[in-house]
Amino acid sequence: MLRPRTLLSCLLLSASLACAQSQIQSHALSNGIEFSANGTTLRIVALRDDILRVRESHDAPLPEDASWAVLTPSRTAQVAVTPQPDGFETQSLRVSVTPDLRITVSDLEGHILQQDSEPVRWDGTRFRISKEKALDDHFFGLGDKPGPLDRAGQSYVMWNTDSFGWQESTDPIYKSIPFFLEFHEGRALGVLFDNTWRTYFDFGHEMPDTYSFGAPNGPIDYYLMYGPAPKQVVEDYAWLTGPTPLPPLWALGFQQSRYSYETETRLMQVADRLRADHIPADALYLDIDYQVKNRPFTVNTEAFPNFPAMVKKLSDDHFHLVVITDLHIADLPNQGYAPYDSGVAGDEFVKNPDGSNYVGPVWPGPSVFPDFTRQKSRQWWGTLYKQFVADGVAGFWNDMNEPAVFRYPTKTMPDDVQHRIDEPGFTPRTANHLEIHNVYGMENSRATYDGLLALRPDERPFVLTRASYAGGQRYAATWTGDNSSTWNHLRQTVPQILNLGLSGFAFSGADVGGFAGSPSPELLTKWLELAAFQPIDRDHAAKGTRDHEPWVDCPEQEAIRKRYIETRYRLMPYLYSVAEETSRTGLPIDRPLFLEFPNATSDGHPFDLDAGSEFLLGSELLIVPNPSPEEVAPYEVHLPPGTWYDFWTGERIDRRGQASGLDLEKRDDLLAQKPLMLTPRLDTLNAYVRGGSILPMAPVTQSTDVTPQGPLTLRVYPDFATGQSCQGEVYTDDGHSFAYRQGAYLRERFTCSVNADGSLTLRETAHEGSYQPWWKSFHVEVYGWQPHQKTVELASGHAALQQHDGVVSTEIPDTGTNLTVTLR
Ligand code: GLC
Repeated sequence: MLRPRTLLSCLLLSASLACAQSQIQSHALSNGIEFSANGTTLRIVALRDDILRVRESHDAPLPEDASWAVLTPSRTAQVAVTPQPDGFETQSLRVSVTPDLRITVSDLEGHILQQDSEPVRWDGTRFRISKEKALDDHFFGLGDKPGPLDRAGQSYVMWNTDSFGWQESTDPIYKSIPFFLEFHEGRALGVLFDNTWRTYFDFGHEMPDTYSFGAPNGPIDYYLMYGPAPKQVVEDYAWLTGPTPLPPLWALGFQQSRYSYETETRLMQVADRLRADHIPADALYLDIDYQVKNRPFTVNTEAFPNFPAMVKKLSDDHFHLVVITDLHIADLPNQGYAPYDSGVAGDEFVKNPDGSNYVGPVWPGPSVFPDFTRQKSRQWWGTLYKQFVADGVAGFWNDMNEPAVFRYPTKTMPDDVQHRIDEPGFTPRTANHLEIHNVYGMENSRATYDGLLALRPDERPFVLTRASYAGGQRYAATWTGDNSSTWNHLRQTVPQILNLGLSGFAFSGADVGGFAGSPSPELLTKWLELAAFQPIDRDHAAKGTRDHEPWVDCPEQEAIRKRYIETRYRLMPYLYSVAEETSRTGLPIDRPLFLEFPNATSDGHPFDLDAGSEFLLGSELLIVPNPSPEEVAPYEVHLPPGTWYDFWTGERIDRRGQASGLDLEKRDDLLAQKPLMLTPRLDTLNAYVRGGSILPMAPVTQSTDVTPQGPLTLRVYPDFATGQSCQGEVYTDDGHSFAYRQGAYLRERFTCSVNADGSLTLRETAHEGSYQPWWKSFHVEVYGWQPHQKTVELASGHAALQQHDGVVSTEIPDTGTNLTVTLR
């Protein structure tokens, strides 16, 4: 209910501005406030105490309240606010608006979090929103746009583009994720600008003291998410747009692809070689050449004569087959091509302004394009997967969905192509391609995801998409497109995957070895090392490049590559537990350091700026790639504050001796500042475990389908900086169905503490959930701790304790109940 009142505060706020001139009216809302002045309507509402939504229109009412990105329950959520003369307050934020409609958002302690530097600039349908920027503001997010992790000083455009051979300075590339996180003096604020048109973002590129975003058309509709912790902002963004769902376990395994394995014989050779060389692997890919003349949803039976039998054979050998299914449907009237015929019968394709189907050239030649903005057309698209699903194909790859169209300079369909939106939550209407372009790929992957769920209701779908928009993580994993086989592209994978993760896409990867070009043996080895710690580990290569599989080059290279893939499989209990956390919270799998250590620096800058290419896998494992991976000279690295253990050797990185005599806080500061010197080695990617963690690990298997033999290893790393405690957890379930939602999962939490007498107590909470894990016992390994008596006390008696190379270990049964074990 709107209650009109005049803005009493305008004279108080801005003595130079006459109220009479601005004709401003304000209306208090139960959840916010609305202003109107000189043809502009501004409505600011609180969805939660820490999440605001800002909408504005000029010379028109506010447009339809609908979104492709934001979940309806979140978008329509509201909390009561306390009105103020110039705005309102929530339990955590204060909003004030000047008579010329400049918005300021502060926390309740008065820290300004965001402030318009000028009123919105309108020019017809175009607009630009400008905010004050401090010189030490930092910006993260915007998906996988290339370039540095921190986007300060850069500007970007959102326009999904097929960008073969993109480089560090290329913009735009495949995705449009209009979300960023501003980080200033340890405080984070998130902004989602929900406008699907060709939006742009400028983070101080044009003017160092201003950041801005705008669009040529569409709504002013943006959400502000307040931390202050950056993790909170990422969780808020997941609340708005949905988290990355729990993937099938196999999708976390090693994936082998190429453009293309052109025959069944070749594909089976690759499968056999992986098994013969004992290189763990879960997924194999078929790129476009398995089809008849690149026509989606066909199989070339000359090259793949026994397709269903082949899929079965692969599955018996614990491989999951992923096939590409591009969205362009070959324009083949009267030729018995079912996807075309059924699509025409249902009128499923996008139109020219004259009402005819739009036809554009892509891989199959002239093609038509499904209208994914129609629920009905998405459902039709989903039915096309029926045969592949019946054949047992495990996953699907939606490529070229920017959409890519050949021979046009714009690389996509014309601006005036018509999309007939017919969609729950939207008023049915026809929109031109300029509005839909950036959501087209996301809606393609949504159609695939929903279609697979309809066909296999109790299997978690695996869909890989190239193009997407904010919220697309609900439907598909993604990769960074056609990168190149260069050292620089290897380095680029880190900021891209980190920014994708901050932008909701927790489950992403980059083509391992690089797509365009042929990697040197060393580059391929280093790439396979790094990708072992990235969410998707998929080796892929372009046509005409040399072979990329882990065994190419010499046995020494293969041995290193294999060891890293094996390490990924040994870490699978941890990786899967992190993926499960992601599915609940939206926190990424690979994380920038400021996410876990927002206060690591005295002046509040993100620690990542000191830390080269470092990143965290989950919150416990720190990966430290050489920031100049092609260099052989020793290099310095700064580790985040706290105790760290070398993941490979177990050695505690203890520099406290150098800081003795200082109090704890100063000592930690000093340790954080003191760099480590590392010497690059081809066979080593440095990795560290955070003191205070318990890391669950498994025996190596050749596929995640194979049950590990032996106990679950718990690597225990006491934190000597903070009372020698530690904690960790493991999550598991059947790895593929939704039974976990009915309680068929297992979560176990562990803690450790070092007692006054020097003994170490390890506790396990009772099992949560009904799932029976593959392990019956734990192999406990304790690092950085010395036993005195070499005994282990259990409720049921004593067990033996071994000490070897500084690691103390023992075996204890997993009784499933609360368990306390003391090592002496
Ligand atoms: C695109 C994809 C690439 C794929 C190729 C053929 O370039 O990005 O991954 O191999 O098309 O389908």
